[in-house]
Amino acid sequence: MSMRLRCDRTPAWGVLRQLFETRGRTLDLRQVFATDPGRFERLTLQAPHVFADLSKNLVDETLQAALTELARQCGVAAHRDALFSGQHVNSTEDRAAMHWLLRQPVADAQALPLPVQVELRQVHAVLDAMLAYAQAVREDVAITDVVNIGIGGSDLGPQMAVLALDEFADQGKRYHFVSSVDGHELSQVLRRVRPESTLFLVASKSFTTLETMTNARSAKAWFQAQGGRDIARHFCALTSNVQAAAEFGISTTFGFRDWVGGRYSMWSAIGLPIAIAIGPQHFRELLAGAHAMDAHFRIAPLERNLPVQLALLDLWHRNFHGFSSRSVAPYHSGLRRMQAYLQQLEMESNGKRVDETGQALPYATSPVIWGEPAANGQHAYFQMLHQGSDVIPVEFIAVKKVAHELPEHHLKLLANGLAQAQALMLGQADPGGHRHMPGNRPSTFLVLEELTPTSLGALIALYEHRVFVAGSLWGINSFDQWGVELGKVLAKAIEPRLESGDTTGLDASTAGLLKRLRS
Ligand code: F6P
Repeated sequence: MSMRLRCDRTPAWGVLRQLFETRGRTLDLRQVFATDPGRFERLTLQAPHVFADLSKNLVDETLQAALTELARQCGVAAHRDALFSGQHVNSTEDRAAMHWLLRQPVADAQALPLPVQVELRQVHAVLDAMLAYAQAVREDVAITDVVNIGIGGSDLGPQMAVLALDEFADQGKRYHFVSSVDGHELSQVLRRVRPESTLFLVASKSFTTLETMTNARSAKAWFQAQGGRDIARHFCALTSNVQAAAEFGISTTFGFRDWVGGRYSMWSAIGLPIAIAIGPQHFRELLAGAHAMDAHFRIAPLERNLPVQLALLDLWHRNFHGFSSRSVAPYHSGLRRMQAYLQQLEMESNGKRVDETGQALPYATSPVIWGEPAANGQHAYFQMLHQGSDVIPVEFIAVKKVAHELPEHHLKLLANGLAQAQALMLGQADPGGHRHMPGNRPSTFLVLEELTPTSLGALIALYEHRVFVAGSLWGINSFDQWGVELGKVLAKAIEPRLESGDTTGLDASTAGLLKRLRS
């Protein structure tokens, strides 16, 4: 395992604490822009397919250098290299985290350790087979509906990407995503589809997840009750538990390895709905975009490394300024599931209170991630962003060129994004009045040339690596999720009690609610 040092145990941490008192706490964006004409150039970064303006954040050159020094002292580069050489960076589950390998071209295999080369060959074998299958489904006009049954990482990435890449999608088919065990979801979809024209994709890394297995069983029962016979044609499993899929009765399966974390899995067989929607060539472009960002993360110096610099700002906001959330503001309706995707990616990865060795952390970790496509957000919660008592950093995502034929709409949309970021920073003076807006509220502005498979791949990989770096600085394992287990265990125990009404030994609140829900 690489040498890592928790952020608070580095000399740089102490330096940052001092700098926060002497210049961080009082930094005024309006002033620093007025006195530093080179600020925008210095605090902007062009990574593959993603341009980032970091200049409206509460840092200056000195602070940025001190933050970068923190990354150096924490051993972020060595930890990153451990990730990319297949070491078991997921220490509590004793596994590698090699989602990056899913987008690695075969041609680059020689640079990898031998066991990883073997994995890469398997990755490409599955990818080729899965893309051939996706193409066959695309050509099969009898299949009009593709229903993905999966939850968490087996839902959010594919759903987000299929929506984002709608312009590239085969419009001859409809794509449905059923995730919750709430029967409304599945029954709504089943009302709209017919067994002979539907392909069900059962997506579950473990193939044991309660929601997914319940939905899959109900879908299969519905299919058979409607006279459907050919399970092999109408059901396909995407899983690393091939055996469980076979026992369930599904013979068409695309697998992936346990070193693919659920929330990092859209590049694996879990991406099949994306591949069916946009086609094999575009799916390869999605992988290529992510790979370009991997290469940037691996080789760009820390000062010009976008995932590193974003993660350092995240830490600066969270641990020094004490900002407890970040709002994601995509100015493109195709990115309307982005915040849901990022919620899992960031909060399931870095919502931890102990370090890798199990010691309680003396500082805060993952902020709350939230938001909406921002044109809507502006008419809902932006009031709070501008005048509320909490300072909430905002991350704008804008796309320069769009495909629709309403250019004046796009102009207005972009103008609104720029204006909101400007208003957050500038504020408005109305001393003592209700129109006063304090301003000096930080934001980051990301720009994509176009929303394509390539740029989406790069953007998502950027977020993955940023989360990794933040976790690295905080000294936590970003790849486990033990916190979700207790609720699952308790739900299993409560289910039969809901049937029987037995409340013995339950706390008064759970017992009272259980009785009320039964009566
Ligand atoms: O409950 C959390 C979780 O384990 C996520 O990490 C995962 O993405 C999701 O459940 C679904 O798991 P699976 O793909 O195994 O069904």
